Amino acid sequence: MQKLIINGGKRLGGEIRIQGAKNAALPIIAACTLCGGEIILHNCPRISDVYSAMRILTYLGCKVGFEDKNHLSVKAENISVNDIPDELMREMRSSVFFLGAVLGRTGKCRITLPGGCDLGPRPIDMHISALRKMGVTIREEFGVLDCTAEKGLRGAKINLSFPSVGTTENIMLAAVLAEGTTVIQNAAREPEISDLAGFLNSCGAKISGAGCGRIVINGVEKLHSCEYTIMPDRIVCATYLSCAAAAGGELVVSGCRPADMESIMNVFEQMGCIVHSAADKIYFSADHPLKAVAPIRTMVFPGFPTDAQAVLMAALCKAKGTSVFVENIFENRFKHVGELCRMGADILVEGKVAVIEGVERLYGAKVCAADLRGGAGLVTAALSAEGVSEISDIHYIDRGYEEIEKVLSSIGAGIARE
Ligand code: EPZ
Repeated sequence: MQKLIINGGKRLGGEIRIQGAKNAALPIIAACTLCGGEIILHNCPRISDVYSAMRILTYLGCKVGFEDKNHLSVKAENISVNDIPDELMREMRSSVFFLGAVLGRTGKCRITLPGGCDLGPRPIDMHISALRKMGVTIREEFGVLDCTAEKGLRGAKINLSFPSVGTTENIMLAAVLAEGTTVIQNAAREPEISDLAGFLNSCGAKISGAGCGRIVINGVEKLHSCEYTIMPDRIVCATYLSCAAAAGGELVVSGCRPADMESIMNVFEQMGCIVHSAADKIYFSADHPLKAVAPIRTMVFPGFPTDAQAVLMAALCKAKGTSVFVENIFENRFKHVGELCRMGADILVEGKVAVIEGVERLYGAKVCAADLRGGAGLVTAALSAEGVSEISDIHYIDRGYEEIEKVLSSIGAGIARE
């Protein structure tokens, strides 16, 4: 099993370019199964979750491959099957998007429950009840979902009890070719939702209101080919800024979208970091000691994103004072805390609250990643620790970060993959 070896304590400096967004690329790749012609996706990150999605496309009968570093080509003229085997479903949470897409294309789909980072139960009850409202018969037996829309998918008015990102995206995928109009009330407003709508509209769909709480999808006959550029990854950007905050240094980040990151920038400014942004660049500098911040509550967009919780927590471990995180989105998203404490952090978890008492120093240690963003948090802390850290189970990190050790080495970090 591969490991990351990090020799901490070095200041960071230089310029990096942010990869395409995992959480936009994955629903967009699933959406390709709805399109008749060839799709070219620019700025597609080479991460293991994208390779998992490519395996599902290939299984369904599509032709898919990277044309060069980050340009993905998908040809979905012939979808030959409409079931997805358990071993492919289990690889990630985003496999659930293929339910809406394959149903939209073929009217039938058979899947098992999706996998993904263990952040709590992560049910798909909202996905299922929404699809049933659109005329899908869903039989659940021994973890297998047998879904058929005998009379085809029909538009419906769907009121989400919670603005679930995945549920909003699955409804969009099922609705674009459905008969009639679908309205999603209390839809998720994350930027990745707008990116999916942008892609689908480029293929001829009729979607309005993405990014607001009410999305309207008018079903069309078919979708055509297109070229599309995936948005930058706001969480990867938050991660590398957290690394610079934790280790100290000056960073220029390009190819990002500062407007997606207001709530995160606000926290960095409270920490005493200097943050300027212009167009697709962020100019960032941080010196020690950082300051503790007011309580951070993870919320749906445009609130503070749950995906940035671990990396900001890692950057705050040595901040002067007491910081508090309240994790409101997932039940079990503090698994990185125990590993941070092995490095000398002083963090107390009570239910969904984590209290961080700033310490003078962190020490290199052997730690294990337990999920994608928690693993990125361990990298962030190791960069600011004295001595050498060894991070194992880094396959979690590779799910969402393209060549993390190369990016960090390019700005002066002592990091290598073994
Ligand atoms: C997406 O997950 C992201 N994943 C997550 O990013 C992100 O943390 C999350 O949205 C919130 O922003 C992708 O886009 C691939 P939800 P998703 O449906 O769709 C509950 C990362 O690190 N829920 O908004 O699973 C659910 O259990 C990943 O990149 C139900 O109860 O998020 C959770 O507590 C981690 N029933 C909450 O809603 C349902 O049917 C938010 O889930 C669906 C969700």
